[in-house]
Parts: sequence; structure tokens; C-alpha cells
Amino acid sequence: MISQNQRNENVKKILYKLTGISLVDNKDIMISNRLQKLRRNLNYHGDIDDLLASIENDKELSTQFINTFTTNKTNFFREEFHFNDLITRVLPKFASFDAPRINIYCCASSTGEEPYSIAMTIKEAEIKYINKIKTSIIASDIDTNVLKQASEGIYGFSKSGKEFPTWISPAKYFKRRVQKDAYSEEVFIKAKDELKRLITFQKINLTDERYPFEDDFFDVIFCRNVLIYFNEDDQNKILVKLFKKLKMGGTLYIGHSESPRILTKHVERIGQNIFLKIKEYI
Ligand SMILES: C[S@@+](CC[C@H](N)C(=O)[O-])C[C@H]1O[C@@H](n2cnc3c(N)ncnc32)[C@H](O)[C@@H]1O
Repeated sequence: MISQNQRNENVKKILYKLTGISLVDNKDIMISNRLQKLRRNLNYHGDIDDLLASIENDKELSTQFINTFTTNKTNFFREEFHFNDLITRVLPKFASFDAPRINIYCCASSTGEEPYSIAMTIKEAEIKYINKIKTSIIASDIDTNVLKQASEGIYGFSKSGKEFPTWISPAKYFKRRVQKDAYSEEVFIKAKDELKRLITFQKINLTDERYPFEDDFFDVIFCRNVLIYFNEDDQNKILVKLFKKLKMGGTLYIGHSESPRILTKHVERIGQNIFLKIKEYI
């Protein structure tokens, strides 16, 4: 019989191997809650340690395990100052180009609010000062459930509309749907095709050896609120791999409690967690 401690260590090892996520100590309650959730999702009534033993050799099971253990908290225009920077500093530069084109990577896109916020920001710039900018937003995550949700683009919507900053009118970019039954009424919004068309969702594990993009491809990379889940060594490896994909002079946005660590000499900090690539990392 395996002790609770051993089981938790086992979960941490599997999670690290599959995703690079390093669970720190004091996560016992979280681990046991997530294992319960995994059981429920799989409708599994057998021995949990037997289940854990088979995860690594079973593709479907490892997908379910990953989806259960990722933390997907996000919201529209989270850390709004990054979107303000995008519309006031980054996008105006494209206005003078004959055929402007922008490539953006959002590397931990969760349920999609972040890439849709990027897409809305670009649409707003087109209304304000760029005629038409050819846009490609690649949005990736390791969790297949959130990727599915993101590509559907359907979200719960509060009456106040406080999910959005004042400079965004949600009605412009989302269709409203009301679901009613005898007892309640719920409002949903669904991203319009003009927004969806700008985004390609794909599964990418940030700890993979290589990312499927050319070097120097992206003008902007959003890598926010995901580095915190990795140990320092893995954070550095991810940052270096992402950095290679960023054009010289391109912009890297990272989360509020994250730092560019290994890249300090290769970036210039120009705002709150906003960094410009100034030197290649070799
Ligand atoms: C807290 S959410 C952040 C979402 C969004 N970037 C934001 O700032 O609101 C972290 C996301 O990272 C994803 N993630 C965790 N480990 C990953 C990995 N190894 N590769 C790719 N995505 C990963 C999770 O699935 C989750 O959706």
C-alpha cells in the first residue's frame, strides 16, 4: 500500500515529466482534489495508484491527466497595460507600411480570452489608424480541453460587461446568446468569425525540444502567467526557445510575477513586464 506522501510525489513526477510543471510543497490538498476530479472525469472506480502507474504509457490517459492538472485562470484584457502598449506603441509602427503584416504568438492561451483580446486590439487599431493589417495570431496551450473551448469562442457574460475595458464594445466582436429555462437566464457571447479568422489554435508543450516556427518569425510574443509553473532552469530554457522565434526589435510580454531571467542582457525593459529584443541570444 502506497502512502499519501509517496502518491503525491508520484503525481509530481508524472506531471513534471509530461508538462514540465513543478508542483512545490504544500500542494497536498490540490493534488488530492485533482485526483478526485480525474477519477470523476474518467468514471474510474479502481485503485488510483494503478491508474497512475498506467498514465505514461496511455496517450488518452496522459491527456486527461494533463488537462486535470493544469491551472487555466485567465480573463479578457488581463493586465490591460499590455494591450494598451500594443495599440499605442507596437501597432502604429505598421501604419506606414505598404502591406502591413504582423505575426503574434500567445504561448499559453488557456480558454482563449488572451488571444481574442489581442485580436480585438488589432481590429481597434485598424479602425483608428491602420487601413488593413494582415494578422496571424498563433495561440497554443498544452491542455486540449481549453484549446477546444478557445476555438469555440463561447464565454459567459455578466450584465455589467465589466469583462471588457471601456474602449472595447463587446457587441462589435461577439454575438449574444441567451439561454433560458423556467428558473434562470444565462447570457453567453460567441466570438464573431472576423475575430476567429485571425487566430490559429494549436497544441504545443512549451517544454518540447523545438517549437514549430521559423526563427525570428514573431513581431510580438505573449508569454504570460505560465512561467511561474516551471522551475528556474526550465523557465530559462523556455525563454531562450521563445526568444529565438522573436524578431530583433520585437516585443515580449510576460506576466506580472514573472521575469525574463536569462535574457536580461538581451532585452530592454520598456514598461511593466514589456521587453524589446535588442540582442540575439547565442
Ligand atoms: C494561468 S493560465 C495563463 C493564461 C493566460 N496566458 C493569461 O495570462 O491569462 C496558464 C496556462 O498555461 C498552460 N500550460 C501549463 N503548462 C504548459 C506547457 N508545458 N506547455 C504549454 N502550456 C502550458 C496551462 O494549460 C494554462 O492554460
